[in-house]
Amino acid sequence: MSQQHHEFDVLIIGSGAAGLSLALRLPDSVRCGVVSKRELREGNTYYAQGGISAVLDSADSIESHVSDTLRAGAGLCVEPVVRTVVERGPANIRWLAEQGVAFTQSPPTGDSDFHLTREGGHSHRRVVHAADATGRAVETTLVDRVRQRPNVTLLEHHIAVDLTYRRDPGLGKHCTGAYLLDLRHDRVISAAAPCVVLASGGAAKVYLYTSNPDVATGDGIAMAWRAGCRVANMEFIQFHPTCLYHPQAKSFLISEAVRGEGGRLLLPDGTRFMPQFDERAELAPRDIVARAIDHEMKRLGAECVYLDISDKPDAFIEEHFPTILARCLELGIDMRREPLPVVPAAHYTCGGIKVDSHGETDILGLFSIGEAAYTGLHGANRMASNSLLECLVYGELAVERILARLEQHPGHAGIPPWDESRVTDSDEEVVVAHNWDELRRFMWDYVGIVRSNKRLARAKRRIDLLRGEIAEYYSNFRIGNDLLELRNLVEVGDLIVQSALRRRESRGLHYTLDFPATDPNQAQPTVLIPDNYMPRVD
Ligand code: FAD
Ligand code: SIN
Repeated sequence: MSQQHHEFDVLIIGSGAAGLSLALRLPDSVRCGVVSKRELREGNTYYAQGGISAVLDSADSIESHVSDTLRAGAGLCVEPVVRTVVERGPANIRWLAEQGVAFTQSPPTGDSDFHLTREGGHSHRRVVHAADATGRAVETTLVDRVRQRPNVTLLEHHIAVDLTYRRDPGLGKHCTGAYLLDLRHDRVISAAAPCVVLASGGAAKVYLYTSNPDVATGDGIAMAWRAGCRVANMEFIQFHPTCLYHPQAKSFLISEAVRGEGGRLLLPDGTRFMPQFDERAELAPRDIVARAIDHEMKRLGAECVYLDISDKPDAFIEEHFPTILARCLELGIDMRREPLPVVPAAHYTCGGIKVDSHGETDILGLFSIGEAAYTGLHGANRMASNSLLECLVYGELAVERILARLEQHPGHAGIPPWDESRVTDSDEEVVVAHNWDELRRFMWDYVGIVRSNKRLARAKRRIDLLRGEIAEYYSNFRIGNDLLELRNLVEVGDLIVQSALRRRESRGLHYTLDFPATDPNQAQPTVLIPDNYMPRVD
């Protein structure tokens, strides 16, 4: 049977805020394919709670948003990138509102049309939100919109396997498309496009405890690395300070906005502790709060700390945090009356595929936007609610370049058929499940909030073993979703460990016992270069 084949002008891998906003900004004349591993809405975007940062109040300023972002990023943000993203913020919020996102209105303070909440690191109220379920409002609106677009073909339940590219001597690499595994029909198909966008999200699933849904397995980062793209700053994994500590909660997030609206962190005996760690107390950036919690939990041998907002009126909590309140009530905890048990969990991948000012990678025609990409915005620590903003702004910037590329290179290259002739069905699925658990556990134990050379070296040895086993498995057995994700997770775990071993200082989210101080001479990104890297030739 011949292999199914699609042809598009633009192939977008990922259907979160980054991928869908880009798709919606393409003109109707551009034929676009959007690939999503599960149903369209499933990804980090849908679960975002706190909101999107943008300067919308006259008491706030672009300068202030820029300087807060630079401060949170601990010396590693690229200032022109920060400025571009912040300056484009207000127009992007208006664009979302025009698409139909119902942001919370009625400001109690200031002169914005939107209610603005506050989160860690922000010196002003500047977070636009839809109560405490901003991501749901954004994602469902974008999904509705994209379903109405005649130029967009939606390929749900398809997982991208690997990228395809052409290598021209002296001309570098040019992306030509991707292989996709159709999960419903269990067959590999190909999709050719002169422009491919990796909007495939982050990789926090490489850790045992995470706020992220199952799809966050760093597939795009691993695919780009295998194809020859540089990646940067992979050591900077953000641990969100407050995920609900409950056996049935599967790391349910308690939004930073709870602290922004007055929630206090308490030890099990009820003592407040954050003021001893930072003058901004509960509203210090996440790296500081997560490390303080980790420190206190280890010092006391405590299983969790507590977040208390029960001094606020019931009506205030019900209005601002309806989703969190409802979920906690289902689990028997009433945040109107009692503190919430919380622990840190892996939340956000600050590094990723290295891209230029318009989201294009080292391979011509290959783009990356959103959490999969490293743009330089977040530096060593992302400030709260700057991520969704980056998804939108880089979607907009990438469209500008994509349209130029389509004029230069409108045609399709042939993609060799996928070769399954030498593989068989696996009779040992247990190997994949076992390796998956092992990887996530040792990444949590050895490459977590507090690191050391010894722990990182231990993790590296185990990763090398797993890589060998998975490579053998991959070449002998027919591929499936779990094997593909595991292969990508191991790749990403390796990139995190390699990057962490290179940074011989503590900065932002990377804290190591061997080098506890920040070294001003190391204020550069960690850039890893794959063996098959070729500089892009435009
Ligand atoms: P995602 O929304 O994660 O989408 C990735 C897409 O790629 C998915 O559709 C997935 O299925 C698809 N995909 C992945 N691999 C493949 C593959 N191999 N083949 C096909 N498809 C693939 N940020 C904020 O700014 N404000 C917040 O309030 C906020 N709250 C958050 C709360 C939670 C619980 C979490 C987890 C994150 C939060 N973040 C927040 C971070 C933010 O949500 C994400 O960084 C952002 O949504 C990422 O968007 P994205 O489009 O890059 O990726
Ligand atoms: C939150 O609501 O705490 C998440 C915000 C973010 O990750 O930016």
